[in-house]
Amino acid sequence: MLNLVVLTGAGVSAESGIPTFRGKEGLWKNFKPEELATPEAFRKNPKLVWEWYDWRRQLISKAEPNKAHKLLAQLNAVIITQNVDGLHQRAGTKKVIELHGNIWRVRCTSCGKEYENYEVPLREIPPKCKFCNGLLRPAVVWFGESLPMDALEEAERLAKSCEVFLVVGTSGVVYPAGLLPFVAKEHGAKVVEINPESTPISEIADIVIREKASVGVEKFIQTMLNL
Ligand code: OAD
Repeated sequence: MLNLVVLTGAGVSAESGIPTFRGKEGLWKNFKPEELATPEAFRKNPKLVWEWYDWRRQLISKAEPNKAHKLLAQLNAVIITQNVDGLHQRAGTKKVIELHGNIWRVRCTSCGKEYENYEVPLREIPPKCKFCNGLLRPAVVWFGESLPMDALEEAERLAKSCEVFLVVGTSGVVYPAGLLPFVAKEHGAKVVEINPESTPISEIADIVIREKASVGVEKFIQTMLNL
């Protein structure tokens, strides 16, 4: 079996009805990241930030893993994801490295405890900590924040040691996640990109599959089987 590692972005969940960030219908067309996805924005207006997250949690709670999530789960590869929606886990992938956190986890800004919270919609906005009644924040990574060290280190180690690095549905413009395909390539992996649009990763990819994730992953599997 090939040593395969997968990196995914918002595009893999697009066919589940979850909007991507960039592109024609991306979230950042109608919303400003600096008002919603930074520590400063949260300090200034936690209610507004939580309203946006509550809306996204509602969308995600109604979504199901799509064919791409399911096919990727069957590959038994580690999935490194920038997504916070938890759909890879719901599709059955055993090992998911979440570089940007998870929208179903919350962290207390007072006592620091982090725990799962599946309340949809939230009863109280902004929500309060069940341990100390402090202000909760989503346990996700915002712009200007560091990625979880363990997750990033493991992702880098995997990128350096795999034979095939499959990239599905990411614009590749958010770092350090966007650098991982370059790290993999530098260390001798074949890079395969699945994305209907061109990205900076396309330039270094050994194989580019210009399809939506569901069709693209199916084609990828067919190609692997024929090798
Ligand atoms: P983006 O929204 O930047 O990019 C989504 C990519 O998916 C684009 O390259 C699209 O062409 C592609 N795409 C769209 N539909 C697709 C489909 N059906 N199948 C396959 N690909 C499709 O999302 P990310 O690259 O994940 O971070 O963005 C990275 C980070 O930027 C996110 O984790 C988030 C965002 O701001 C934070 O919030 C910190």
